[in-house]
Amino acid sequence: MNPRLGALHAYPFERLAALKSAVTPPPHLKHIAMSIGEPQHAPPEFVLETLRRSLAELGSYPSTLGLAELRAACAAWLTRRYALKDGSVDPDTMVLPVNGTREALFAFVQAAVDERGAPLIAMPNPFYLPDLAAVPAESWRRCQVLILCSPGNPTGAVLPLEFFARALDLAERYDFIVASDECYADIYLDEAAAPHGLLEAAESSGRSHFERCVVFHSLSKRSSLPGLRSGFVAGDPAILERFLLYRTYHGSAMPLPTQRASIAAWGDDAHAAENRRLYQEKFARVLPLLAPHLSVSRPAGAFYLWPEVGQDEERFARELYARQNVTVLPGSYLSRAGAAGDPGRQRVRISLVPPLAQCVEAAARIVDFLRVRPVRD
Ligand SMILES: Cc1ncc(COP(=O)(O)O)c(C=O)c1O
Repeated sequence: MNPRLGALHAYPFERLAALKSAVTPPPHLKHIAMSIGEPQHAPPEFVLETLRRSLAELGSYPSTLGLAELRAACAAWLTRRYALKDGSVDPDTMVLPVNGTREALFAFVQAAVDERGAPLIAMPNPFYLPDLAAVPAESWRRCQVLILCSPGNPTGAVLPLEFFARALDLAERYDFIVASDECYADIYLDEAAAPHGLLEAAESSGRSHFERCVVFHSLSKRSSLPGLRSGFVAGDPAILERFLLYRTYHGSAMPLPTQRASIAAWGDDAHAAENRRLYQEKFARVLPLLAPHLSVSRPAGAFYLWPEVGQDEERFARELYARQNVTVLPGSYLSRAGAAGDPGRQRVRISLVPPLAQCVEAAARIVDFLRVRPVRD
């Protein structure tokens, strides 16, 4: 097997399972899982219905490029969502369906990197607002892909338009691609100020062919359809043309019923607005309970809390599970130690995906747990 596989770290949820393995939580409390970012709101019925109606199409191979109607639905959504100029996203050359952003991000880097010349992939740690000015010119020279994430996971921070524009200036100057993971694009706090995106910044700075830009979008969070495995990439046609070639060989085409269901989902914004409202309600109910006891604030986007817990984050997560049967994710499982320390230390990620009543119950249990600090090993 490829020896480079050995360089992969244990996956965060594998580490979490190991952390919890020696612990027996109190049996009288029902388990509340807030570690994984798996949406649990009901998927839109009209999407499921479209999927059911299209099942007979499993009898045909799908093409990697996908149906023209799907690419048109994605382009139309991008245009509405980011107020792009009509016709600026060409569905035939600027959009490609993918089976969720996760596989696409992984595959894209494989396709994009030229291994000659000690390449670097730059990414935030762990998905914070990166400080572009702090990166030395020598690193930018070696950079081939800059990965951004907005709204971010786990912080929920949103990148301003000027930030994207600065990243694009650097990309031009040092010849690299900006890959923006925007899978939380439709989960945000302020209805009057939807988070900006990379394509919007490209267009408003005169890059009308989205030069050096690739964005990643998904129905997993927007439409509470994580099991559908449906997303798309969009951007620079010269980049997408090469990525399509790679994907054709890779064999990662999207099944036709999934494409039909996706057309329905991208075509409707009302269910996404209702989905967003449900998350806003959870933040509104949970934060007043936690804020007096934890250093925590309301994020601009996504559905996570990222509090400082004032103690070792693994111990916090383990003890919270042991005493309250609530699972949260130690922040350091998402981060890497760097020169300035490890930004995930003494933080946990709390995912507000369970139903509202369970989120409120979990917050009450966390408060109970904090009242009996300090926790001992
Ligand atoms: C930042 C980020 N990118 C990508 C993904 C993967 O999403 P998808 O279901 O589209 O593969 C997730 C899922 O949690 C995520 O948090």
